Amino acid sequence: MPKPPESSKLPVWFDCDTGIDDTLALGQLVAQPDTHLVGISTVSGNTSAAQAAQNTLDLLALLGRDDVPVAVGAHDPLVGVYAGGAPHVHGGNGVGDVELPRATRTVESANGVEALIGAARAHAGELHLVAVGPLTNLALALREEPELRTLVSHVTIMGGAVWALGNITEHAEANIGNDAEAARIVLTAGWPITLVPLDVTMTHFLEVEAQAALAARGGDFRTALAGMLDCYLGFHETRYGKRVSALHDPMATMLATGTVKASTLQSVGIDVALEGETRGRTVAVEPSPQHPAVAVVTAIEDPVADRLLEALLTL
Ligand code: RIB
Ligand code: CA
Repeated sequence: MPKPPESSKLPVWFDCDTGIDDTLALGQLVAQPDTHLVGISTVSGNTSAAQAAQNTLDLLALLGRDDVPVAVGAHDPLVGVYAGGAPHVHGGNGVGDVELPRATRTVESANGVEALIGAARAHAGELHLVAVGPLTNLALALREEPELRTLVSHVTIMGGAVWALGNITEHAEANIGNDAEAARIVLTAGWPITLVPLDVTMTHFLEVEAQAALAARGGDFRTALAGMLDCYLGFHETRYGKRVSALHDPMATMLATGTVKASTLQSVGIDVALEGETRGRTVAVEPSPQHPAVAVVTAIEDPVADRLLEALLTL
């Protein structure tokens, strides 16, 4: 089957904190034949921005995609300093302590914020931005280039817990809670946003059978991924009593690329709590100029885990 030309594909910029579920999302994006992965910026979250970039370079090498530029974005959130990641969830190196073979190339000389802005200008009005880490890079890019709101055609964000409980505190989800100030800027910027919060990402799971299928099919990327999933499944077993993997980040990329569709969306404004014990909470409010409408995904009927596994088995 001939490949579709690059110009007919959906141009996507991926901002991430690679991360085990970020790796699932990266694999899904690479597997998607009608997506042009324009570039990747990293941010501190699951691990540091620099380690996330190294992980991303190494994973892209395993995927045979050394052509995708990777740029290191913000190390610290807008206020305060990087808190040290989530080694209990993603291992000490962000990829479940799996030792990936080192890529032969290095990161871009431009930082992640500059690289993102450059890509948005180069694909003006067309670029789809998918953010699956803390929103620091997006907030800095909006500050640097206010036109980003219109240069980018759509923003899909994995983050928040709108009507559900948080995962780093009772109120806050990790991507929002790790940089609440940035989240408030990005979620109230008045650009077209689809928000993919825990409300929906905790409703579909990859099971141990899928991990076994990835390992059985083999190949460098799938073998590494199956090893990484040991760590992630172990965390979910300890926290939730079931050896499964939540599908936070791949759900965002699958929605962005049209691989699955939202079956329920709520159009609300989103306020981000900055103070006290509710810091990082994403609060649904009546849309207004201060809180422009955001499309919040609350249900997906499509079989997300099956579609993801199908995609990963094609790599
Ligand atoms: O809360 C889940 C999110 O936090 C995911 O994006 C995960 O990779 C971490 O960044
Ligand atoms: Ca992530």
